[in-house]
Amino acid sequence: MRRALSLLCAAGTLVAGTVAVLVVSVSPAAAISACPSGMSCGYYTVSGLGARKQAILNYGADTLDMAVAMLETETMQANYAYGDRKTGDAANFGIFKQNWGMIRQCTPQYQSYGPNEWNAGTALNSNLSWDVQVLNKCQSYFGMDKWFGGHRNGATGLANPYTTDINNYKTAVYWIKAQIDANSGYRTDNTRFWVYVPAI
Ligand SMILES: *[C@@H]1O[C@H](CO)[C@@H](O)[C@H](O)[C@H]1NC(C)=O
Repeated sequence: MRRALSLLCAAGTLVAGTVAVLVVSVSPAAAISACPSGMSCGYYTVSGLGARKQAILNYGADTLDMAVAMLETETMQANYAYGDRKTGDAANFGIFKQNWGMIRQCTPQYQSYGPNEWNAGTALNSNLSWDVQVLNKCQSYFGMDKWFGGHRNGATGLANPYTTDINNYKTAVYWIKAQIDANSGYRTDNTRFWVYVPAI
């Protein structure tokens, strides 16, 4: 693992007749592991991301959950196209882009619902606490391997969770989690880690 300490100094602007202004901002140690084999990865700053991280931690998310949200959206907000332009069991909701097919199976409140009631998933878009609770229910209900399979590839992935594509997705999420875990500052600052997961 290569570690580099990044110290950003936006140095003093000295304007005649005014006092010198020195702004120093220290980012956490930019420890970043090599990208997963065959994938691109990196990190950058997203304004407001730290507040979103803190919010999901407060609602009981762990850094694996944080890594999923970070991979799925840039801002960790459910502000993408409704359902992620999908309907029925394939429709996505919340900051983790959970699919309705899994949501309705693992959540007691929705177990009487079918694919046609997919709009009920809207509740996750507007209630971050519920979004995190449903995620954690689904991870427990399916177990992490099946959860990754279904999250990546719906019913097909639930039935067959060890394909190359699902394994790549899982590798990407765990890489992001490892970066966050390497420095506690990354749990609450504005750093977004990303991995480009190749399509197969
Ligand atoms: C979020 O959802 C939970 C579970 O349905 C509910 O108990 C809570 O009141 C909701 N919070 C808001 C702000 O709607």
